[in-house]
Amino acid sequence: MCGIVGYIGYGNAGDIIIEGLKKLEYRGYDSSGIAVIKDGKIEVRKQKGRISNLETAVENEHFNSTVGIGHTRWATHGAPSDANAHPHISMDKTIAIVHNGIIENYTELREWLTKDLGVIFTSETDSEVIAHLISLYYDGSLEDAVYKAVEKMRGAYGIGVLCSKEPDKIVAVRKDSPLIIGLGDGCNFIASDIPALLKHVRSIYLIENNETVVLTRNEVKIYNADRKEVKRDVFHVTWDEDAAEKDGFDHFMLKEIHEQPKGLFETLNRRLDKNGNILLDGISMTKQDLEKFDRVYIVACGTAYHAGMVGKFIIERFAKIPVEVDVASEFRYRDPFIDDKTLFIAISQSGETLDTLAALREAKKKGARILSVVNVVGSSVARESDDVFYTWAGPEIAVASTKAYTTQLMCMYLIALYVGYTKGVLAPDLYNEYIRELKFIPDKLKTLLKTEGDILEAAKGLYKKEQVFFIGRGPDASVSLEGSLKLKEISYINSFAIAAGELKHGTIALIEQGSLVIALATQDRLFEKMLSNIQEVKARGAYVIGLAKEGNKEIEKQADKVFYIPDCPDDLTPLLSVVPLQLLAYEIAKLRGCDIDKPKNLAKSVTVE
Ligand code: F6R
Repeated sequence: MCGIVGYIGYGNAGDIIIEGLKKLEYRGYDSSGIAVIKDGKIEVRKQKGRISNLETAVENEHFNSTVGIGHTRWATHGAPSDANAHPHISMDKTIAIVHNGIIENYTELREWLTKDLGVIFTSETDSEVIAHLISLYYDGSLEDAVYKAVEKMRGAYGIGVLCSKEPDKIVAVRKDSPLIIGLGDGCNFIASDIPALLKHVRSIYLIENNETVVLTRNEVKIYNADRKEVKRDVFHVTWDEDAAEKDGFDHFMLKEIHEQPKGLFETLNRRLDKNGNILLDGISMTKQDLEKFDRVYIVACGTAYHAGMVGKFIIERFAKIPVEVDVASEFRYRDPFIDDKTLFIAISQSGETLDTLAALREAKKKGARILSVVNVVGSSVARESDDVFYTWAGPEIAVASTKAYTTQLMCMYLIALYVGYTKGVLAPDLYNEYIRELKFIPDKLKTLLKTEGDILEAAKGLYKKEQVFFIGRGPDASVSLEGSLKLKEISYINSFAIAAGELKHGTIALIEQGSLVIALATQDRLFEKMLSNIQEVKARGAYVIGLAKEGNKEIEKQADKVFYIPDCPDDLTPLLSVVPLQLLAYEIAKLRGCDIDKPKNLAKSVTVE
């Protein structure tokens, strides 16, 4: 949420920063801006709208500056506007800042700065207080001023600071918002995420909470909260730049949908030993630990939460442990019952989602063992967990999550099978059979992706609908939630998912002639029940699209149109059944002319509460 980039070196800071911001646009895209130091003065340019607006605005300006900071915004305080865009500067124009996060006590700070010190604010943002505070405390050392300013602030922040009186330096600081440092040759960078830097560097420092960093062209120094210098190992990024490019696809979302077979293959095979057994390499949980756990909490947000819902189903079934799933923003404020017999599983693609991180810390304080399922290596959730189970999805750029979800599901299956087998509650032949079936999934998914054309055809008849219902039973009910989220977030169609059996307890009142119902009926043991639920909505005039396993043709008698997924055991269908729903959402959004990779009001990586 909000992207920041900073550069100090010998190249053209303006070009390098704008190029970096473009790679971070998925983090926020309602306005953007840049500040550079030129001839001892800070120059700021900022624009409402996409980064292309900023780019056009500065096209003919040759800043000729070698140091600067930039920002792409997702509005929290104050509407998207030129004035509210970052960077913000102090009244004397000597300090410029970019900020990702929220300053929670900004009202009181703003009042104090205005009333007692005569500061005049030029924006409605919380972030502007940071520039004024740093300016207030500046007495010859930018890092000293940043320390003092930070002491006054409550909230979450990743901040980059420039000072015209110290033009050969950038200072950056973080608390609960991501911050990385890129280490170049004669140049150094700050950024909130790796893709911004891939063109220039592969060696980075991951900055910890409450650390301050001072960057010059040839040196990076990291200081902890006690102002002691700390050493940090260099983290080498293994992705290449192409991984963060569209690769011929119209959108990142479509590319990422197509990357799912590979992501699933990698996530599975990196956890299998040469005998085909699940290997929790690097995860320190022993058999005794597993036997001790008497409950599991799975906590996450959005799509990751939906993966957790399937996780509950699978873990309870294979590992025979009661599982509670909760959205992180609720979990952290509800005083859940947790002790050292609790296994807490946090699921997060970015590893930076603030609510998930806060829930994890809450559970840790109460003694739970923390296992996280994370995509971004070295992210905050990963670093603060006892053990990490990485998804191997590769970088996910589209705001709507697809490959992260299916790889998170794969982790859920592997964890459930491992725990069940190790505890001796899952019979070895079943354990082996499920691993064998999991190995078939990437190829089955490749076959399924070939039906993309049929889904586009169906989308042509559906894209004008303004309301869609998703229904399903068992794991299909959880996948329905994900299908519905995908559709609403990228096409803005009002969609709704409900357990099929629950429909008649109220929601069926909304079904009328022409209502679109997408009915997931992939579970053999629940198939007939689903057929009855389809009949119920058909009787009220609904147009029904069914989703079933190949061979279950009976559904064609009830549904108006059917998509099939390759045959597989009931328990594994979520790995396949979500894909037609992702594609349908994509095709519908495309036909509606929506900005698929950057849906309105959204941003990837939600680092505010
Ligand atoms: C929806 C989507 C979001 C994220 C959620 C959690 O397509 O991407 O719902 O799943 O914001 O994000 P992570 O997984 O990064 O914690």
